[in-house]
Amino acid sequence: MQQEKIGIFDSGIGGLSILKVLLQSCYTDFVYVADTAYLPYGEKSPEVLIERGHVVTQLFLQQGITTIVVACHTSSATTLPTLQKAYPHVTFIDMLFPTITAACNITKNNSIGVFATAATIKSGVHKTLLHRLKPDITVIEQACPLLVPLIENEHSTEQEINRTLQDYLTPIMRAKADTLILGCTHYAFLKERIKELAPYLQLVCADQEAALRFTSAPEANKKRVTFLVSGDKAIFKHKSEKKLLQDFDYSFESF
Ligand code: DGL
Repeated sequence: MQQEKIGIFDSGIGGLSILKVLLQSCYTDFVYVADTAYLPYGEKSPEVLIERGHVVTQLFLQQGITTIVVACHTSSATTLPTLQKAYPHVTFIDMLFPTITAACNITKNNSIGVFATAATIKSGVHKTLLHRLKPDITVIEQACPLLVPLIENEHSTEQEINRTLQDYLTPIMRAKADTLILGCTHYAFLKERIKELAPYLQLVCADQEAALRFTSAPEANKKRVTFLVSGDKAIFKHKSEKKLLQDFDYSFESF
């Protein structure tokens, strides 16, 4: 019997860091929705994000998909409860909560920094959930609106990225946080740079958490990924081929 495909959803290339992990652990084919026409999600209102959540969920349902990995933290932070209520037969797998529990387990001084998009920080989800798990924790939230455009833009220079990261890291370092949640899928691509700039910070990122939760299946069959893109398909194809060179079949379509 053929297994049901899994859907993965992000505003752009960020979710590829999660797809990469899933390709090594699952036996199924995937449909990856990149809602690039609406990127950056971090600058959108909750109303727009909820509307996009419905559009994307219905797109998956049309493909017969009822297991959806909401890779995008901004979407999880602002729309997940609404979508879970509207589509009770759909399994939404959220990548945000695992990073919150991991950070709580890792911190030694109970001081946790959070890098996330403006919309995610505005939702207050990190503070709320971290305090629910550990009431005495100090949370230093940092909205990073410049990072997603820098990561999506292939011409961003190292200098620009480092300067921006330095600015965002300053309040986290001043507060002496020992742990930093990278609360946006895109930031996974900056992990090594952040490690260089702030080596004493323990980084918590959704792709690492996904890798811990989904065990590797090295003998798995060759998988197929269908990418559905709302913005420019050729640009997304070019970027994702650079980020995700692996042995799988793929195709790109517009929606
Ligand atoms: N990558 C998404 C996230 O995890 C959002 C990036 C954006 O479009 O602003 O939050």
